[in-house]
Amino acid sequence: MFTAQGARLLPIAVDEFGLVVEELANHSSERIKLALVTPSHQFPTGAILSLPRRLQLLAWAQQTGTVIIEDDYDSEYRYGSQPLPALQGIDRSHSVIYAGSFSKVLFPSLRIGYLVLPPSLVSLFASAKWLSDRQLPLLDQQVLTDFIEEGHFERHIRRMRSHYDRNRLVLVQALNDYFGNRATILGENAGIHLMVRLHTTLSDEAIVRRATEVGVELVPAKPHYLNTPPQGEFIFGYAELTEQQLHEGIWRLAQALLK
Ligand SMILES: Cc1ncc(COP(=O)(O)O)c(C=O)c1O
Repeated sequence: MFTAQGARLLPIAVDEFGLVVEELANHSSERIKLALVTPSHQFPTGAILSLPRRLQLLAWAQQTGTVIIEDDYDSEYRYGSQPLPALQGIDRSHSVIYAGSFSKVLFPSLRIGYLVLPPSLVSLFASAKWLSDRQLPLLDQQVLTDFIEEGHFERHIRRMRSHYDRNRLVLVQALNDYFGNRATILGENAGIHLMVRLHTTLSDEAIVRRATEVGVELVPAKPHYLNTPPQGEFIFGYAELTEQQLHEGIWRLAQALLK
């Protein structure tokens, strides 16, 4: 999307605390106009941007006059500890455009999302929206409003959070049981996917082929890297599968890869 608009993309490293903000500062000579981040659950590594990094990122944005787009997908599903405040909620300098979506918490074909904008950008975005998309799904929005106001949305999130948490724990347990130290699990504390780094000499293509042969679909993380991607990283979504399928899938995968 950004390159289609003529933007030059600048990849920044992500570690277990999320975006490495110092790397942004090292690019001070470049005119960075926009930083796109997914702080609640970095896609695809699953890292959660820590509070010190959030404050550091906001300070950098304020100093350099850069706008941050906070794509807060997956923020509803945080396990084990309280969610951290959104960048938009602690921003004092109107640097953050917050983007939320109902695709993952309800269903993707709903096609409803929302933005929380700095006051100075509201009329610009309203004009752009009016130009690009005049017919809105009003009925869907009204139904969704009732769904939220009557408390169903909050109940739905609570129910789904414990359902996904159970799936997540089954997946983590199965990975530990069948792969042990042959796999490193990353980003398991939020969202509806985690990432697994497989320690094997097999190529990603060979891993996917062997997985397919035993009926397991594996999604490589490779296409999400702008720089040279590491080997053996895969995205494991656990929202749609049953506990039995998750357990059996990992067992089959271990049989296929560790033989
Ligand atoms: C990183 C990220 N952001 C946002 C979304 C939601 O996008 P949309 O609202 O266009 O369905 C997704 C959905 O998969 C996603 O992976």
